[in-house]
Amino acid sequence: MTSTRRNRLIVVSNRLPFALSHSPDGSPSVRPGSGGLVTALLPVLRNRGGTWLGWPGTSEEIPRLRTAVARASRDLGCTFVPITISRSEYEQYYLGYSNESIWPLFHDLPSQCRFDPPYWQAYGEVNRRFAEQTARIASPDDFIWVHDYQLMMVGAELRRLGRFQTLAFFLHIPFPAPDIFMKLPERLTLLRGLLEFDLLGFQTQRDRRNFIQCVRQLIRGTKVRAVGSLHRVWLDEREVHLGAFPISIDYAWFSRRASERDTRREAAKIRQNLAGRHIILGVDRLDTTKGIPHRLEAFHRFLIQHPEIHGKVNLIQVVVPSRTGIPTYDALKEEIERLVGRINGEFTRCGWVPVHYMFRGLPATDLLAYYRASHAALVTPLKDGMNLVAKEYCTCNEKARGVLILSQFAGVSAELGRQSLVVNPNDVQQTADAIWQAITMPEDERHERMRRMRRVIRTHDIFWWVDSFMRAAIDRQLHDFPVLDDYIPELEDTGNDAWGGISPDQFGPVPEMSER
Ligand code: UDP
Ligand code: G6P
Repeated sequence: MTSTRRNRLIVVSNRLPFALSHSPDGSPSVRPGSGGLVTALLPVLRNRGGTWLGWPGTSEEIPRLRTAVARASRDLGCTFVPITISRSEYEQYYLGYSNESIWPLFHDLPSQCRFDPPYWQAYGEVNRRFAEQTARIASPDDFIWVHDYQLMMVGAELRRLGRFQTLAFFLHIPFPAPDIFMKLPERLTLLRGLLEFDLLGFQTQRDRRNFIQCVRQLIRGTKVRAVGSLHRVWLDEREVHLGAFPISIDYAWFSRRASERDTRREAAKIRQNLAGRHIILGVDRLDTTKGIPHRLEAFHRFLIQHPEIHGKVNLIQVVVPSRTGIPTYDALKEEIERLVGRINGEFTRCGWVPVHYMFRGLPATDLLAYYRASHAALVTPLKDGMNLVAKEYCTCNEKARGVLILSQFAGVSAELGRQSLVVNPNDVQQTADAIWQAITMPEDERHERMRRMRRVIRTHDIFWWVDSFMRAAIDRQLHDFPVLDDYIPELEDTGNDAWGGISPDQFGPVPEMSER
């Protein structure tokens, strides 16, 4: 079946912006999906009512799945098309190839990689199924935009199915340098697969450069030339465009939501509970790339070196559970808990516990209140495609008094590096010194740095990002896509009233706030 609707924006990603599961009574329940891809893309689709294909976050059988997804479509304002994956595909394609092979390799952690032939086979099969589903619903003049490292072979599969329209791909994570990429057993197939897209978008110039170097080393006879802001690659009579498009957030939504009354009230409560203290914040998914143990070591060293600050500083570390079942992730959780225990065991005294640790996802109001209340944020990944937490922290810092301590290895440092305190996260002493510099920085300097960072994010928000990508891909912008009210599918079965719907506060950006 091919849809009769035309000119649609069709987004394909591994994850939909929500995850379904069973409630104790057997009905489907929903929670927001975590991670930067979801935060960035949801406002884009909600603004235009596009179609989003992806995995609904569970390999369990969900009763009345279609109804649950139709309700999510209605609540979130765009059409979701669920692509289910089985338990064994979850293990081999998602946990396996995507997150035990590609994710650590592309983040320069080859020693954490596991390469296993069945992983690659499952990856190919799931990519094929994503392509088949996409081909089933897409008309030839729809714009198909595939996202991220879990789906790098979807372009090649769509070509195999005879789709010759413009196909675009955006990689949300870094692309590694050739010496790292060469370790991948399927390096050539994957590279050729990516080159089946017409436009490949990367987060930074460095990622794009790495990709070009890999192409040059692995595929003979390719020609590459810079034309304007894009690079063009010619091979086998095909022309592929490459560009760097730093992803961003819905600035207007975050800044407005951060200054609403309930957020301000929560922030005031946090400040009151920690009165007289410097509040330093870390917010990360549980991931070995985020450098959380290094950060805790740095905070430990800072406390050892500055006894005069004891009782006057708190590190609030939020860790959002992620990819449970991968041994390195499970071990990381234990390591973090051991380090938090060690710091608190060593320094806690009556009325002061130095590290406040939360292992859970936070509702939007609480997260934004922490951003608003904190005097400094520690964003110190060992490697990161972009890191949206850094942009969210600055955006919510309405009074512009906070300091951003930023890893030089986060993609966002290309945009915010000059105004933040840049550190090498492996250098624990440098990070400890940056914490001291942050809490002793004069107010006018903090203000000036933060004001400039906020301006960068405001002018390069998520709508700027989507427009610049689309201009490069198809010479169109988001507003050229029609808003189609009749997209939202009918509910097939209204019998399931246990579904509580999705509250906007759970999910972040809501459409009316994203209007420009
Ligand atoms: N986030 C979340 N729940 C939380 C805390 C954070 O969904 O409890 C969001 C956060 O707002 C941000 C995203 O998770 O948008 C993390 O994106 P980032 O680019 O920093 O890293 P990623 O997790 O994608 O590697
Ligand atoms: C990063 C990736 C996304 C992914 C997210 C959360 O942002 O680039 O593709 O969705 O992490 O990870 P998860 O495995 O839970 O989808």
